[in-house]
Amino acid sequence: MKTQQRTQHRIPIAKPMITDDEKRRVMEVLDSGRLVAGAKVKEFEHSFADYLGAGSAVATSSGTTALQVTLEALGIGAGDTVISTPFTFVATSNAIIHAGARPLFVDVDPHTYNLDPQAVEDAFKREKVRAILCVHLYGLPADLGALREIARRHSALLIEDSAQAHGARYDDQKVGTFGDAAIFSFYPSKNITTGEGGMIITTDAQVEHRARVLVNVGQDGAGEYVYEVIGYNYRMTDLSAALGLGQLEHLDEYNARRRANAARLTEGLGRSRWLMTPVEPRECFHVYNQYTIRVPQSRDRLVKYLNDQGIGTRVYYPSLVPNSPAYRRLGFAGQFPAAETLAREVLSLPVHPALAEGDLERIIEAVVHFPRDRG
Ligand SMILES: Cc1ncc(COP(=O)(O)O)c(C=O)c1O
Repeated sequence: MKTQQRTQHRIPIAKPMITDDEKRRVMEVLDSGRLVAGAKVKEFEHSFADYLGAGSAVATSSGTTALQVTLEALGIGAGDTVISTPFTFVATSNAIIHAGARPLFVDVDPHTYNLDPQAVEDAFKREKVRAILCVHLYGLPADLGALREIARRHSALLIEDSAQAHGARYDDQKVGTFGDAAIFSFYPSKNITTGEGGMIITTDAQVEHRARVLVNVGQDGAGEYVYEVIGYNYRMTDLSAALGLGQLEHLDEYNARRRANAARLTEGLGRSRWLMTPVEPRECFHVYNQYTIRVPQSRDRLVKYLNDQGIGTRVYYPSLVPNSPAYRRLGFAGQFPAAETLAREVLSLPVHPALAEGDLERIIEAVVHFPRDRG
């Protein structure tokens, strides 16, 4: 009998959802002839701050530039030490170095993949630290209760890299509103997108002002060509902001879909003892920018196997930032057993809101039937 070969579509690891209304909004900006920072950027900043429920927002050209400006606006620079995680996208610690400060990497919690508060506390015993820059990795809030308390006790700043966590909550409060400042990214793989784009959040009016000036080539409110500081052009465009305004209206609905997809994946994969599904501590509301499992054995073979089945996966991140050539001179390599283990074991499966019910079943079937004992 002939085996029936059904052609199945490829399931991507990420897929931005762009509605007709969003396309219309972008066209309106194009038709208006005002493409750069203007009314739409202002409106997006207000809407995003309203959505978070606290703080003021300053839009930027990316999450990376948002981080860089945030540290500078907080006055972090030469001679300062900033604690951060080795298990993140490189932009987090690049910003510390660009600010002229020194990153102090500490290990993560192997269950949440986020900064381990005990490791953070221990670092304060060894060194004078100016700030903690935490990351809400994959959309799961870091242990903000503990980190806020440690920062308070040591008079250090707390900064949230919320690039992957739009709408995530800790103790029912949205991330991005806990620290002295926070940033978001709107890169296409994020929970909402503006193409490239970022946002700075702060409740400190001075920090907001400094950030606004830095983003806009150092010009203050006094007028054009009056430069308060040596700034950058890190502005968001009105085109991006128009898209962002449309996206923001769907954020809760998209997050609900991500959560439902994650719940279905956990239900389907939870009985497979050879892998670990992601955790959601009681005080956290995870928004699953990524659904990341741990596969202690044969992770790389599983990646290939799923790829052959038409299922897109990604390893975020296969190596730690301090181990990369650009960072090795700082001398941190080999100090983070939990993060090292994660880099060897993690695998992100598609969880985005563009997935169909059948896609989830296909992903579960493929993972569950992975022939892991062979070869
Ligand atoms: C944790 C983290 N920080 C910072 C960034 C930088 O954001 P962007 O890509 O918008 O520059 C990203 C996104 O890629 C990220 O995941």
